[in-house]
Amino acid sequence: MSRNGDLFVHPGVPLKGEQVVKHYQVGVDVVHAVDGMSLQVEPEMPVALVGVSGCGKSTLLNLLGGVDRPDSGSIWVDGVDLCGLSERDLEEYRLTKVGFVFQTFNLIPSLTAQENVELPMTMAGWLGAHDRHDRAQRLLELVGMEKKAGKRPDELSGGEQQRVSIAVALSNDPAIILADEPTANLDHANLEVVAALLIQLARDYHKTVVIATHDPRVFSKVPSILEMEEGKMKEKS
Ligand SMILES: Nc1ncnc2c1ncn2[C@@H]1O[C@H](COP(=O)(O)OP(=O)(O)OP(=O)(O)O)[C@@H](O)[C@H]1O
Ligand SMILES: [Mg+2]
Repeated sequence: MSRNGDLFVHPGVPLKGEQVVKHYQVGVDVVHAVDGMSLQVEPEMPVALVGVSGCGKSTLLNLLGGVDRPDSGSIWVDGVDLCGLSERDLEEYRLTKVGFVFQTFNLIPSLTAQENVELPMTMAGWLGAHDRHDRAQRLLELVGMEKKAGKRPDELSGGEQQRVSIAVALSNDPAIILADEPTANLDHANLEVVAALLIQLARDYHKTVVIATHDPRVFSKVPSILEMEEGKMKEKS
């Protein structure tokens, strides 16, 4: 393996949802965003979560990532049910076990690429300043952005920002990477780069990877596809 071999020491963990339900009350109506969804994701086997707009992909990713809690059902991460965790433990899970990649990159505009990548390590109180700097540089190298480490997001293209945001997501060496429409704002060349990087994280670095996407150019590359329909797993026709 390359000099990046020791960048990741935390392998992925099994992620399992059982009859997960999340409803939203909107005025007098109830939106069944996730409505009894069950799924299983294993490390090294990236999963594409597909389905039409509004079928519940983002809601499910937020539940898997501990951003939100389900109304009922269970989410097992390496044998632990997230529903049983205190707020503090759930926050710890989010900060240390999960890396999120968003459609809109979510970089901090006033910070350079390097500083954006260092920030999650600083927030988690992980590593000294020198090691944080070195790790951030190597993560930027992994995503092919080392030459632009000193640039701020507004000085980078969309594809470059998304590559930096993947480095940010990997900053704390999470076991699980959850990507929500990560290629929606990218041109074809950058889509290829970002999709390949996410798949590489599962294949080469043993991470648990879930990619919510509409795009057949992305999901056709992913070995396992889960199709959602109206908050549930779509029945095979
Ligand atoms: N905070 C919320 N309050 C009320 N309804 C919500 C909320 N979040 C999501 N919804 C509703 O839940 C359903 C599922 O939304 P979700 O964002 O999970 O879909 P999605 O599959 O990610 O769609 P897209 O492909 O457009 O991103 C939609 O009907 C949406 O309007
Ligand atoms: Mg969505």
